[in-house]
Amino acid sequence: MSTGRSADPELVAPIADPALYAGDPFPQYARLRREAPLAWLADPGCWIATKHADVLRISRDPGSFCSSEGILLMDIGRDLPQIPGALLYVDPPEHGRYRRLVNPGFSTSHIRTLEARIRDRARALLEAVEPGVEVDVVETLAVPFPLLVIADLLGVPGDDWPRFRVWTDLMIEAAQGTTPESEAALTEMAVYFLDLVAERRADPRDDLVSLLCTAEVDGVGLDDAELMMFYGQLLVAGNETTRNLVSGALLAFSEHPDQWTRLRAHPETIPVAVEECLRWTTPVISFMRTATRDVEVRGETIRAGEPVLLVYAAANRDEEVFGDTAGSFDATRDPNPHVSLGFGEHFCLGAVLARLEARVFLEEAARRFATLEPAGAVERLASGVIAGILRVPLRLGV
Ligand code: HEM
Repeated sequence: MSTGRSADPELVAPIADPALYAGDPFPQYARLRREAPLAWLADPGCWIATKHADVLRISRDPGSFCSSEGILLMDIGRDLPQIPGALLYVDPPEHGRYRRLVNPGFSTSHIRTLEARIRDRARALLEAVEPGVEVDVVETLAVPFPLLVIADLLGVPGDDWPRFRVWTDLMIEAAQGTTPESEAALTEMAVYFLDLVAERRADPRDDLVSLLCTAEVDGVGLDDAELMMFYGQLLVAGNETTRNLVSGALLAFSEHPDQWTRLRAHPETIPVAVEECLRWTTPVISFMRTATRDVEVRGETIRAGEPVLLVYAAANRDEEVFGDTAGSFDATRDPNPHVSLGFGEHFCLGAVLARLEARVFLEEAARRFATLEPAGAVERLASGVIAGILRVPLRLGV
């Protein structure tokens, strides 16, 4: 067994290759967990953590493993611009101040007020699907649903969702380098939100834009640059993740028709099923941290300045935690200590919303459709960050 700093490059290198994720990365994760659970990836120079216990340990210790040096493999060696309000890249104690400002907008009590609206959105999309006819559930259901919900959350017209889609796609692209097209679109987005902030400051309403532009901690609020960053971040963080959770959940149930039948018979178990859908799909494959000091993990010394990739998708199939059925979809799995929403200081801000969206969507889908039948090849995105599903053709039967 070659592990740690001398791990077999052929075993570790595929993790940095986007092509792995367009296919089935799970056998590779299983080998890494077994043969090299904390392995050094020589290019671009990063530790790869695939065990559940290590992902937890590192996520819980932001003092020793920071986010400000980057959270994506492609951040390694880049001169990261210090962007105000970019929560994912901020360390304590500054991070805590931002979270105190924005947490109230994402609290269980605030998000619950959106449930009826979310249900209307899910129902309208599902009712537009013709039973028995092949449909790509990604484009028809999973793409518009979270964007419509984000529009409702922000307090803007639902018809704006196609613009949000363009902006989020371009923001993701722009992370690797801007083009004149992406710059123009991002300027359009900034103008959209600046106008909105000006409107809401003058006339606050019961929506997230008003809440964030008027929130204060110790008498200090978010300035315009921080607000723009924050709204953009919400679009990116809340969109593709939920999209892939919804399409991945429908795909999983189409492959396990007995579990769909059971779920319909016991809709009260949908919250438990949502947790398994989160584990099974793991919409964020991995995020990175950087050691701020020498730290011993699994008998290896991670040196100060070395990055570590936390592979949530691999940790979520760890047999040591999920037992013999770690590699199976089981919508009744309970307890389900998955790490799909992260852990510690950076625990997903939108967790309550994401869980509510998935629950309501499954409740409405189960009410309307008795069968979910696979109807063609599934296509996945070649990305090691977002577990993207590009196409899921199904026939939904009543
Ligand atoms: C299935 C849906 C979702 C998944 C799987 C997901 C996953 C994650 C993960 C793994 C993190 C931790 C990042 C880290 O540790 O570095 C995170 C953070 C975050 N998420 Fe989510 N997320 C989802 C939905 C949402 C939604 C709906 C929103 C908002 C509308 C959102 C907003 C955020 C924000 C702002 C952060 C940064 C928090 C911080 O750094 O303090 N997420 N999410």
